Amino acid sequence: MADPTPHSSLGFGLGVRPAHYESLLGERKGSVSWLEALTENYLVPGGRPLHYLERLRAEYPIVLHGVSLSIGSADPLNESYLRDVKALADRIEPGWVSDHLCWTGVDGVNLHDLMPMPFTETALRHVVSRIATVQERLGRRLVLENVSSYVSFSSSEMTEWDFLREVAERADCHLLLDVNNVYVSSVNHGFDPMAYLRGIPVERVKQFHLAGHRNMGEYLIDTHDEPVCEEVWQLFGAAVERFGAVSTMIERDDNIPELDVLLAELDRARDITNVAMKARASRPSFRQSAHQSKKSAA
Ligand SMILES: [Fe+2]
Repeated sequence: MADPTPHSSLGFGLGVRPAHYESLLGERKGSVSWLEALTENYLVPGGRPLHYLERLRAEYPIVLHGVSLSIGSADPLNESYLRDVKALADRIEPGWVSDHLCWTGVDGVNLHDLMPMPFTETALRHVVSRIATVQERLGRRLVLENVSSYVSFSSSEMTEWDFLREVAERADCHLLLDVNNVYVSSVNHGFDPMAYLRGIPVERVKQFHLAGHRNMGEYLIDTHDEPVCEEVWQLFGAAVERFGAVSTMIERDDNIPELDVLLAELDRARDITNVAMKARASRPSFRQSAHQSKKSAA
């Protein structure tokens, strides 16, 4: 596989949803720099969704984002799913293929949710070995996203960010940093989201997700049906300051507004990125990884 480290940003994109197919191909053609397509919506070789995806691919760079890999599960990997994803990737030639660092079921039961991993050495070895298999099957490096969570395992031996860093470095994969998920989990579990950002190696982050959530009072739910909130915009600025202007997009999966509403949110992401990149140029220390700092202090 090619060198994992250098990656150029695709700029500012959106998760493509059927409601926006025609606009993105018509009057709003070129209004975003790239699109993220949900892998599972296009696995059937033929039909209307794939027809649109191929037309969009002719106009935009596209990346594929899946929810069914279940990389953290104890069940065997789904080889037929991997074959289908490989066939789609060969057809679409995406910038990259991503999924989530989670498990979605066990013993053949699909929970239809993205469940968090126990942050243990055993789980780490397990998931790293499975990533190696997936990367070999797909013939490309995988990009894995941090999920939002509402429960944690008492058996966890390390922080989520330490686990993520170890996964990326041992498996030699990339990371999709969902800034909203970091924020949601930081509130739900009471950790410092800035400590999370500092714990993630800069060179592994390939993409940012921005999304909205629901405030339930005592906890937050990652719903993707609201605009990005102020706290997440602030955290996004800090993320750009640390990781640079990596490919950024807004995920909206429900209560989908007119395209122009999402384009206005993307304008805000652009503005925040410009400010953060200026700050980044003047504050190089935040670009250093927390574990690099510890090493140099030792
Ligand atoms: Fe996400």
